[in-house]
Amino acid sequence: MRLGEVLRRATGHLERTSETARLDAELLLAHALDRSRIELYTDLDRPLNDNEVDRYRELVARRSRCEPVAYILGEWGFRRLTLDCDPRALIPRPETEIVVERCLERLRGLEQPCVLDVGTGTGAIALAIADEHAGARVTGIDASPDALALARENAARTGIAVELIEHDLRGGLPGGPYDLVVSNPPYVAPAELDTLMRDVRDYEPHVALVGEGVTEAVALGARDVLRPGGWLVLEVAEGQAPVVRERLEELGYAETEITPDLTGRERVVEGRA
Ligand SMILES: C[S@@+](CC[C@H](N)C(=O)[O-])C[C@H]1O[C@@H](n2cnc3c(N)ncnc32)[C@H](O)[C@@H]1O
Repeated sequence: MRLGEVLRRATGHLERTSETARLDAELLLAHALDRSRIELYTDLDRPLNDNEVDRYRELVARRSRCEPVAYILGEWGFRRLTLDCDPRALIPRPETEIVVERCLERLRGLEQPCVLDVGTGTGAIALAIADEHAGARVTGIDASPDALALARENAARTGIAVELIEHDLRGGLPGGPYDLVVSNPPYVAPAELDTLMRDVRDYEPHVALVGEGVTEAVALGARDVLRPGGWLVLEVAEGQAPVVRERLEELGYAETEITPDLTGRERVVEGRA
């Protein structure tokens, strides 16, 4: 079978379980053949050998059981970085790239700002800020030793220096004073877990997804470690931005602001200590 035909069939197969079947099929085929996605398009007529087809079939079978593409590939892109990704931590999302964007905006002009990333997971936010703001001194904390191990691997992979500490935010936030505290906390209510897509519910760590009152705990803790005038930047659940903004104002945060993601959904809330 030729590459184009294999791709077409895999896409048809994946359409039963994935909303991004064509993209998934391309990413997995590129991975199986050790090529870039673009290279596939210059090779659509190339016949695949049995080994290549078998390798690809195995990857497509995993995806058809709803395993996320990022976990199958073992890595995922986040802003300028490619990070190791596996079930020890949440897969970094496009909306979280907007969170980083907002942080960089707030840090602009500061030579050596101190930043705390609460619930760092793969280390995505911490590493991206350190990567894109020269001089930033970034600390990432997480209660999950597994997630922290992955974040450390990502720091080594990218060669970016960040401090990574195992710490449960329910005991308050460590260190400070910080110029900025950022968090993408778990915000799915336990009762909502069953409503999540299978890709998420069955594969991503529940400690990264499910949490009640975590956003509030971060906002409370951040007041103690932010320097006056420092910024809190939060990713929030869809539909929660106005409520979180109001709560930040009740807690004394000023200049609160909501930013939509690329699809227009209000996903980032920030305020000034
Ligand atoms: C939604 S994930 C965010 C991961 C990463 N920052 C990102 O945006 O891709 C939330 C993270 O918070 C961590 N977490 C959950 N409860 C925590 C707690 N009580 N203290 C510290 N970290 C916690 C989880 O282990 C997980 O890595």
